[in-house]
Amino acid sequence: MTNMHGYNDFTLGGFNFRRDEYFAHITWSTLDGRPMSHTMDAGNFLRALMRDVAWGFFYGWVNFDDVIGTVNHYGTVDMYAGSFNGAMKDAGIDRMENFPTDDIRQLFEQMLADWTNAGFDPFAAPQETGSPYGPKHGDNMPAITRARELARRCVGLEGDLPLRTDERGAPVNRAFADVPQDTPEVHPEPGFENEVHAFNLFAFLSRSQVTWNPSFTSVVKNSFMCPTTEEHILPIIHGNDRVEWFFQMCDEIHWNCDHKETGEPLARVIMKAGDMAAMPAYCRHQGFSPKRSMLLVWENGNPDLVDDINSGKAPKVPVDFGA
Ligand code: PHB
Ligand code: FE
Repeated sequence: MTNMHGYNDFTLGGFNFRRDEYFAHITWSTLDGRPMSHTMDAGNFLRALMRDVAWGFFYGWVNFDDVIGTVNHYGTVDMYAGSFNGAMKDAGIDRMENFPTDDIRQLFEQMLADWTNAGFDPFAAPQETGSPYGPKHGDNMPAITRARELARRCVGLEGDLPLRTDERGAPVNRAFADVPQDTPEVHPEPGFENEVHAFNLFAFLSRSQVTWNPSFTSVVKNSFMCPTTEEHILPIIHGNDRVEWFFQMCDEIHWNCDHKETGEPLARVIMKAGDMAAMPAYCRHQGFSPKRSMLLVWENGNPDLVDDINSGKAPKVPVDFGA
């Protein structure tokens, strides 16, 4: 159904979604039938929705803000309102429902496509895109359906990518004009020229078109190295279901870390170039990057880890410093 602003309304189980010129409105009923509503800025909503769709619901919790979000159970996904907000939970005005991943993914994809206007790119930094606001005008399908570039082997080796971003001429971002673009010297033994390689990761990242979108650059068993370029605010508050590491490769990011069940503030983490931090499995976090910066996110992709943490077999923290 199209509303007076030109946008479609959407329903997912007991949740309803409506957009107007400035806001996304989410409504639900509590278990005892009381009607509830929540309002988010349309741009912030679409930036969060974009990440949730593109990342296949990510690891654990994707909080769109301190009220609504999703929990990934890897096969099914919970949608909630207020369930991880201490005050709303205590007041009994939250709602959580579980959906097959395909159902929620399809609905989120349709909502993202319909609510994103021409000229607005939810993956771009705010200074590098147009406005999300106004009555419905056009769409931006190329921006919201960007496909990951899947390398078949180490970037730089023959046959790595069907089409390389740098060969397409992606420009160096304005914030990374000082990043050297030279390539490392490699001297393989004869016969190994097509097996040994190195590339300049900083040069590669300096050409990234998107923000807050970790990419897998190396996968060694369950160790995933996911560098990314960050500017402005991480559009979601990520709740961990495992320990996750950050390595600040240049410039700085300021993180708010809260308890993932209630949102209770736990820590401020100011990360400068060269700093490393680990986010424990009981926290949620949101980063603020005043200038476009490079961050390496290190994920443990072990599929057994969530069960191991829940059963106490694996710790929630990376290091136990004793009492
Ligand atoms: C995170 O939630 O840990 C995260 C997500 C996206 C990023 C960086 C960090 O770009
Ligand atoms: Fe995270």
